[in-house]
Amino acid sequence: MSTDPPSAIEPLAHDEPGRGSRSSGISYQDLLDTDTRTVPEVLRLQSARELPVIRVPIEHYTSRSFHDLEVEKVWKRCWQFACREEEIPEPGDHMVYEIAGLEALIVRDADREIHAFPNACMHRGRALKDHAGNSSELKCPFHGWTWNLDGSFKSLPCRWDFPHVEGEAYHLPEFRVGLWGGFVFINMSADAESFASFIGDLPDHFERWPLDKRYKQAHVAHLIRCNWKVAQEGFMEAYHVIATHPQMLPGIGDSNSQYDAWGNFSRAITPNMTPSPHLDYEPSQQEMLQAMITTSLDADPAFRVPEDMTARQLFAQMSRMQLQSSVPSVVHLSDAELNDSFYYTVFPNMHPWGAYNKITYRFRPYGNDPGSCIMEVIYLAPFLGKRPAPAEIHWLDFDQSWTEAPELGPLCQVFDQDTFNLPRVQRGLENAQHTHVTFASYQETKLRHFHSLLDKYIAA
Ligand code: FES
Ligand SMILES: [Fe+2]
Repeated sequence: MSTDPPSAIEPLAHDEPGRGSRSSGISYQDLLDTDTRTVPEVLRLQSARELPVIRVPIEHYTSRSFHDLEVEKVWKRCWQFACREEEIPEPGDHMVYEIAGLEALIVRDADREIHAFPNACMHRGRALKDHAGNSSELKCPFHGWTWNLDGSFKSLPCRWDFPHVEGEAYHLPEFRVGLWGGFVFINMSADAESFASFIGDLPDHFERWPLDKRYKQAHVAHLIRCNWKVAQEGFMEAYHVIATHPQMLPGIGDSNSQYDAWGNFSRAITPNMTPSPHLDYEPSQQEMLQAMITTSLDADPAFRVPEDMTARQLFAQMSRMQLQSSVPSVVHLSDAELNDSFYYTVFPNMHPWGAYNKITYRFRPYGNDPGSCIMEVIYLAPFLGKRPAPAEIHWLDFDQSWTEAPELGPLCQVFDQDTFNLPRVQRGLENAQHTHVTFASYQETKLRHFHSLLDKYIAA
């Protein structure tokens, strides 16, 4: 491992010219003015901060030494999404969360409280659990040392041989646990900020779209040959639509997207059923609908936009009808909430989508390899009545197509377009003779916000 300090991100000197420039076409805030319903305040928010335009050293995506720093400074210190509460609903339920070679054992105790422990026996270190399950106690399979579900020490065979092993000192060390939206977050550091301070105003943003009232309808994990940051950055902007998803252009306001960043999270809003400013013609309402419908909704593509409606209004109506059995309040939701894509990023690697789009993404290194990662797509669907059982994780290997996970529906083709590029980005980065990647001043706001936070953690 190199002992050289990593090169840091760099502010670009010619930051100011062009500051405030925006794409031609209707701005997102102006589009909201055309809504047939009252638009919630959260969609009117625009972040005030102007992040510096930075460039990021390529080695942050390729080097073993930077990966090792991320393990020490980020994964061991940052709040991170470990699992859903619904995955461990009953006392004794547990699961193993793995991140870059580290493992946390997440357990629900007899009082239904959730704990997270290092997955390591305090005798000679065997991993306490190999996978998810249910047990009334935590018993190590090697020699049988046993803990209660709350981590307190219970028993060991041949007590006479261990007079030096006593109660409190052998309580399993605990990681901190935070809960939001039905997600279990953990933090491996005792010194980290509180979860409430970390998560900030994010719960307010999701007040109208409570994710704790969803169930895990699908969970697909795909291995990809690229750094985990390369992969997630492909899902944090709409700048790539013109080259990667050109079929969508009639119905997506790609470069009219709005980008915001606050505290430890950021947001992109991409308007749908509105034409891309890249087009040199004006698509009809029907063309807008047609371009998006196969990727957005399991609806009849032969659906016609009536004369007196826009594609945006029609799509909102169709979504209201589709959702009304599980979300009675859907009648009050604005057209914007039923059409547009609201993709949040919670540092470092979680991407919950707002409104009633079902997506949450998570990106993690694959084992301890800086050159490969796990991309997870989780669908959180609303339900009425008894909570359905959460979907099991479905693994896709490096060279499989997303279409081999039909539970993800028509978005599989779009995911294939997205992930086709990613190993080729990594290949390019490994071969590059230039030293930095360059970001846009506006459309890559979320990427710059992420790298500013990453820089802060690495420097701490
Ligand atoms: S290593 Fe766990 S009981 Fe020995
Ligand atoms: Fe994409």
